[in-house]
Amino acid sequence: MNNLIIYFSRADENYKVGYVEKGNTEIVAEYLKDLVGADMFKIEPLVPYAKDYATCIKEAKDRVGNAPIKDNLNDLSIYKTIYILTPVYWGTYAPEVETAIKSLDFTGKRVRVITTHEGSGLANVISDIEKNCKGADVDKNGLAIFGHEAKDSLEKIKEWL
Ligand SMILES: Cc1cc2nc3c(=O)[nH]c(=O)nc-3n(C[C@H](O)[C@H](O)[C@H](O)COP(=O)(O)O)c2cc1C
Repeated sequence: MNNLIIYFSRADENYKVGYVEKGNTEIVAEYLKDLVGADMFKIEPLVPYAKDYATCIKEAKDRVGNAPIKDNLNDLSIYKTIYILTPVYWGTYAPEVETAIKSLDFTGKRVRVITTHEGSGLANVISDIEKNCKGADVDKNGLAIFGHEAKDSLEKIKEWL
């Protein structure tokens, strides 16, 4: 199948959806996996974010440029297409996404991007991914899904594919 989905997603309290057991981006990642068939890699912060939204947004701002993660992938060689899925945090990807992608070699890989957000759309995610995915061919046509509509996004994802 040669597809990989790398994603970040946070449960607990979030804007518009309240307390949830599964994050919006994870819902989208699972739909995508069912549609294309893919290995999945979830990026986990080394230190979990606070459960409440107000604290979490402050923590996320502090982590920009310094966001340690629990584990990372090291070898993308078997994959042809890599999907990167992230919530928009402060106008771009979650800072842990940068940590994960920066150390990997994306040479020759096609990268496709999906964000979930509450108004910012793709924000700066595509350009920041281009900067930090070394060697990737990044598709400019990303998909942005409102977080609170993640559950209803299957058809949108199908069309985008
Ligand atoms: C720390 C933080 C920062 C956010 N910043 C933005 C933003 O700049 N623009 C936006 O549209 N939504 C923003 N949001 C909303 C999230 O992008 C949205 O709720 C997303 O669907 C969350 O995905 P998740 O449930 O997979 O973690 C932010 C949420 C959090 C927690």
